[in-house]
Amino acid sequence: MNAIVSVTKDWAIGNEGKLLVHNREDMRFFKETTMGGTVICGRTTFESFPGGALPGRRNIVLSRNTSYAPADAEVVRSIDEALQLMANVDPNKVWLIGGARVYEALLPHCSRALVTWNNTSMPADAYFPNLDKDDCWHLANTLGTGTTPSGIPFEFREYLHV
Ligand SMILES: NC(=O)c1ccc[n+]([C@@H]2O[C@H](COP(=O)([O-])OP(=O)(O)OC[C@H]3O[C@@H](n4cnc5c(N)ncnc54)[C@H](OP(=O)(O)O)[C@@H]3O)[C@@H](O)[C@H]2O)c1
Repeated sequence: MNAIVSVTKDWAIGNEGKLLVHNREDMRFFKETTMGGTVICGRTTFESFPGGALPGRRNIVLSRNTSYAPADAEVVRSIDEALQLMANVDPNKVWLIGGARVYEALLPHCSRALVTWNNTSMPADAYFPNLDKDDCWHLANTLGTGTTPSGIPFEFREYLHV
């Protein structure tokens, strides 16, 4: 399984339910990377998608609410159930897409993390684990760099689980 995430320099990912950095190039990268695969997310993140399930991808949503049943996604009630469902799926095509609680719970099951690292900081209430301070992870590659229209420099980083 892979994680894909956009962070600020203090590894923040969201505030009051919203993303922090708006960047079309990153959205394009996310879409191209995950297209055709399976995306796994928490109920809060799923409900933030303006058009419902992400098209062209199998959408799996984590929720403990047994009556939660969106028409366009599969719902699992636990981390174990998510892992069981993915047991026969090519792990290279499974993408963990957030949010904070689901990243934290499933990151130990990921072998790779694609991190859009934005050189900025801003108020936040949701964070991704800091992979630079985790001995289980190392920065393997920088796949590209750029600057958002609002002037924030960013890097597409690939971290690998050691
Ligand atoms: N920067 C990025 O790349 C990125 C990506 C995604 C999200 N985000 C940000 O992350 C924030 C949302 O994160 P969040 O932690 O609040 O929400 P979340 O992880 O998206 O969803 C949390 C919900 O998922 C379900 N859930 C979580 N763990 C579960 C488990 N072990 N078993 C069963 N269900 C489980 C629960 O749903 P029920 O309440 O229905 O039980 C829980 O309330 C937002 O600010 C969003 O913008 C950022």
